[in-house]
Amino acid sequence: MTEHTDFPVTLDEIDALASRADTVITRLRERVFAPGREKRLDLRFNVRSAAEMVGRTEKAIRDAENDGRLPQPEKDPDTGRRLGYSLAEVNRMREVFGTLPRRGDGDPATVLAVQNFKGGVGKSTVVIHLAQYLALKGYRVCVIDCDSQGSTTSVFGLNPDVDVDEDEDTLYPFFRHGGPQTLHYALRATYWPGIALIPSNLGLYDAEYEFAARMMREQTFVLDRLRDGIATIADQFDVILLDPPPALGMISLSVLRAANALIIPAPPNNIDFGSTAHFLKMMGATLNELAEHGGARGYHFVKILATKMNDQKGAHQAIKRVMEAVFPQDILQAVLKDSAEIDNASANLMSVYELTGPATRTDTHKRCRAYLDAVGREIETLIRKTWPSHHAALRKEGIL
Ligand SMILES: Nc1ncnc2c1ncn2[C@@H]1O[C@H](COP(=O)(O)OP(=O)(O)O)[C@@H](O)[C@H]1O
Ligand SMILES: [Mg+2]
Repeated sequence: MTEHTDFPVTLDEIDALASRADTVITRLRERVFAPGREKRLDLRFNVRSAAEMVGRTEKAIRDAENDGRLPQPEKDPDTGRRLGYSLAEVNRMREVFGTLPRRGDGDPATVLAVQNFKGGVGKSTVVIHLAQYLALKGYRVCVIDCDSQGSTTSVFGLNPDVDVDEDEDTLYPFFRHGGPQTLHYALRATYWPGIALIPSNLGLYDAEYEFAARMMREQTFVLDRLRDGIATIADQFDVILLDPPPALGMISLSVLRAANALIIPAPPNNIDFGSTAHFLKMMGATLNELAEHGGARGYHFVKILATKMNDQKGAHQAIKRVMEAVFPQDILQAVLKDSAEIDNASANLMSVYELTGPATRTDTHKRCRAYLDAVGREIETLIRKTWPSHHAALRKEGIL
């Protein structure tokens, strides 16, 4: 008997499996990315919500509309009813009233990586919802999809296989020898006002080999290439969010070197927490080693965020309690609980923030929004603490 026949599954069959899996993905995407169907943000805010978001009274908004500082509110041509304000219109109000919350010119742009070498811990979920939380507040956000799986790219309305060219649109050209000198070429506006995206697709995976080859061939330290690229676009943004791949590779290391703040999502179960502990050890060792080659890097903050927490599971609560006892300073108060709302939204390549009605039930939707808002608010405060121009306001708010 040849070795071949000893094993019932051949390489051909594995290829066939891969191609069938591709078909599943294609069919799922066809549903979401029907031809000619572009993702839009349908969120509308009534004057009460708008006033709250802008930080002025309803009357102040009405007055500004009446004296021409703001346009008249849009009305339904048939019913004459007010349509409500879009996020772009709310941002225009913030501009008129001077309440945009942006960083000052002297404040460092926050480059925040949501990092953990394990997959499925909620990295992309946190990046997407944090980006949208911050955009709703009026910050200028850039999301950089560094994962060749492109799940964040998909949620932002692009089909990685169709709408993204690996030789032109992703980080990949910038990582290549002799590539572009800035990252401007890769920035795209999204259907979310205030969020730009650098998309990704499978081709980005080749950067792993490219980096390894360049390190060997040119004996240069290429792991700061991403950091240098981000420096070329940082002036346009308040917060740049990095969504890394779920592995310890060249791209993940580049992300760790590029970031100036880290959020580490960690589900409170034994296996995932074990891998997070392992991640922290590896990260420490690796960063120290890299410091010897490219210089040390520090972070404004490094915080663990408990994700996918299920209150019904005693083990989750027990581990969460141990986490809080062991790292009281390092763990965020807010928890991203396990929610059917997130699961259902993401099955349709959507975020919870863009839903105009609940994906599950109204109370589930409301609870999920509350978890997401609490996570967003806590991270927003951490970010603002790194911006000196916000310190007076933070003191007034009783935070500093
Ligand atoms: N809090 C949550 N509740 C329910 N499902 C979640 C939650 N966080 C993440 N998920 C789901 O878990 C899966 C993996 O999450 P993802 O953010 O893609 O992880 P990663 O980027 O770390 O691989 C996705 O299907 C996502 O919708
Ligand atoms: Mg991901």
